[in-house]
Amino acid sequence: MDFLGLYFLQLALIGGPSVALGSSGWDCLRAGDTCSSDDSCSPRLRTLRQCVAGDGSVKLGPGARSQCENAMTALLATPLHGCQCKRGMKKEKNCLSIYWSLHQSGLVLHGLSLVEDYPYEPEERGSDYVRLASIAAESEVTTVNRCLDAAKACNIDETCQKTRTEYVSACIQPSVRSGPCNRPRCNKALRKFFDRVPPDYTHELLFCPCTDTACAERRRQTIVPTCSYEEKEKPNCLAQLRVCRADYVCRSRWAQFQFDCQPSDLSSSGCKQENYGACLLAYTGLIGSTITPNYLDNSTSNVGPWCSCAASGNHREECNDFLEFFHDNVCLKNAIIAFGNGSDVKSGSSRAGIASFAPATRTTPGYHRPSSLHGNRAEHPQSTDTTQVNENDRLWGDEEDSTLPSPGLSEHGAAPVHMGLALGWLLPVLLLLLSHQ
Ligand SMILES: *[C@@H]1O[C@H](CO)[C@@H](O)[C@H](O)[C@H]1NC(C)=O
Ligand SMILES: *[C@@H]1O[C@H](CO)[C@@H](O)[C@H](O)[C@H]1NC(C)=O
Repeated sequence: MDFLGLYFLQLALIGGPSVALGSSGWDCLRAGDTCSSDDSCSPRLRTLRQCVAGDGSVKLGPGARSQCENAMTALLATPLHGCQCKRGMKKEKNCLSIYWSLHQSGLVLHGLSLVEDYPYEPEERGSDYVRLASIAAESEVTTVNRCLDAAKACNIDETCQKTRTEYVSACIQPSVRSGPCNRPRCNKALRKFFDRVPPDYTHELLFCPCTDTACAERRRQTIVPTCSYEEKEKPNCLAQLRVCRADYVCRSRWAQFQFDCQPSDLSSSGCKQENYGACLLAYTGLIGSTITPNYLDNSTSNVGPWCSCAASGNHREECNDFLEFFHDNVCLKNAIIAFGNGSDVKSGSSRAGIASFAPATRTTPGYHRPSSLHGNRAEHPQSTDTTQVNENDRLWGDEEDSTLPSPGLSEHGAAPVHMGLALGWLLPVLLLLLSHQ
């Protein structure tokens, strides 16, 4: 692609989807800030958050119930309704807690589940795509093994190389307290990798097509299964899902995955949302969570979380539904196959360049949320100037926000991480090879 082409591509990326996005969704943190600086909104949100405390398990008396309903009805007419969060954003957990306060109360009060809604804004990413398009275009000429090419491409990109080295180091480092590896640290680093690195790199690493078991085994090892999720015994899936739902981030990733990978017999793609890129992105959003999915073996491309439905008692069906969403999901399967054989983007000149549009295209055809959700947003113009809002006026502090990968990540293992960085990708790869002989 020549420079003029790149220039127009960049214009299209920056000018197009972001403008469309900017005029629609509200960030829930901003919506929460606006609400907390409003004398009538603020107490209602406080009330609502009490209503849904403890995952709605608290039985509400008739008085409390009507108070909750009033608060909810009033809040539906504010920007809180329809607000969303950005995956991997700063204070993601705070943002999601605001998102769920409204969505959860619908469930608690009316048994109403807003299935057609999802917590995360469609991805929009900047000029990283442009750079990758040219890298991938170069390698396309000489491609022999896409999985190895993906690793090379990742090493050329600073963010990809750095965060990948970080997670591999975190996931193979023994710890005195937690044994062979420190799972929480490993998962945190994995989430950072999949949240920060453009999907062009991450998808190529994780969904590159394999024709032999050695390749498939390496692909399965990408997320360091022994540390990130494997245990001697497979736990019960519903128990895992319960843990997941108790965490705002995991619950949101799961909700997003259900939305974006929802299978459909009526569509030729197999996906209700008709967007393979979004489905794969939602899939990687689960990696590093309680229900981390991965390839089940080294001879197929079947994926699923590390859990079983044995001993589910009379919740067997619910458990099977959960597992089938991975094992037997035509949308997810097609998304992986199509990515592998390149048929997801067959009309374009540059595979990676076009693939990168996939997450953004959802803003146009797929961004139809039920009209009730948009509600009276237009009738309630609120100040969008968040700089007016004193940080202290926020309803929630930072103390909850533990999911965000921080620079302090390497606190307990500074030396190996630095060594890993110095040796670039070589060290992790060597260690991986050694540890999986
Ligand atoms: C594939 O998996 C099987 C069973 O886990 C294992 O015995 C075999 O060594 C693996 N193959 C490769 C190439 O790693
Ligand atoms: C790629 O996979 C899709 C989905 O299974 C299939 O329909 C299509 O024919 C395949 N294309 C190629 C070129 O193999």
